[in-house]
Formats: sequence, C-alpha cells, structure tokens
Amino acid sequence: MVKVVFVCLGNICRSPTAEGVFRALVKSEGLDGEVSCDSAGTGAWHVGQAPDKRMTVTARKRGVDLSDLRARQAVSADFERFDYVIAMDQENKANLSKICPPGMENKLFRFLEFAPQTGRREVPDPYYGGPAGFDLVVDLIEEASKGLLADIREKHL
Ligand code: 4NP
Repeated sequence: MVKVVFVCLGNICRSPTAEGVFRALVKSEGLDGEVSCDSAGTGAWHVGQAPDKRMTVTARKRGVDLSDLRARQAVSADFERFDYVIAMDQENKANLSKICPPGMENKLFRFLEFAPQTGRREVPDPYYGGPAGFDLVVDLIEEASKGLLADIREKHL
C-alpha cells in the first residue's frame, strides 16, 4: 500500500479537502486497494472537529463528501507511517520539517509541486476569506491530486 498524508494548519479546510478529493480519485481509478490517504494539521486548535462548514458545503457541491473526517495533529511518526507527507503551503512544510526524523526529508513535499501548470506554489488558507477562496482550494487540489497520482503510478505501482 502506498500511503499519503495531506497536511495544512488546522486540518479543517485544505487538508481534509485534499483527503476527500484524492480518495475519490483513487477510488474512481480502481486503486483503493493500493493507495490510501489521511490528513492532519500542524496546529492542535481544531483536533476532533469535523471540517469547516463552508469547506464541506463547497466540496459537496463539487461532488466530494468530507462528512466523516475529523481533525488530528501531525506527529513525527507520520513520517514513518506514510510514504508521502504533503504540505499545502510553505509554512506548513517548514513546520513539518521541524518534526521530520533525520533522513526522511525526501518524503516531504509541497502539494503544488505536482501541479506546476497552475503557476502557484501554495494552496492558500481560505479560513479568513470569502467563498471564492474555498472554490480555489478545490480547483488547486483537483489539479494536484491528478499529478500526485501520476507520480505514484510512475514510482510505486
Ligand atoms: P486549514 O485552515 O489550515 O486549511 O484547515 C485553517 C483553519 C483554521 C485556522 C487557520 C487555518 N485557524 O486559525 O483556526
């Protein structure tokens, strides 16, 4: 099994959306026996909570169900348990490198490394912004999910 964990700040907007979009893609490609995913936040404020209502509604409109997901905090052991540890932005990546065990830095990625065609480097935090920010999160995550699955196929399947 190839294992992926998506990480943002709160684990209530971006990374649960990445988990929901990516798991739907994996399932639609018939790969759910070979690729699995999870999500986490670098911060602990929202641990145990369901995704943000605005994010859940936007994802639902785009055909993605986030209702079963609950927030947890990222831990060092995630680098042992997962093959890909994928940060939504540069700040998340910097915080993950602080808890990355020595020698495992090659597992740490920025999600939009897998979507260079977007011309962006980060999935922007939508929490304090308006509705357009939540749609942009889904747009960018859909693109990067395809790129990530192509990378997994090329290297692991
Ligand atoms: P996320 O969004 O990192 O995409 O889950 C945020 C959620 C909550 C907060 C910040 C970002 N917060 O400051 O509580």
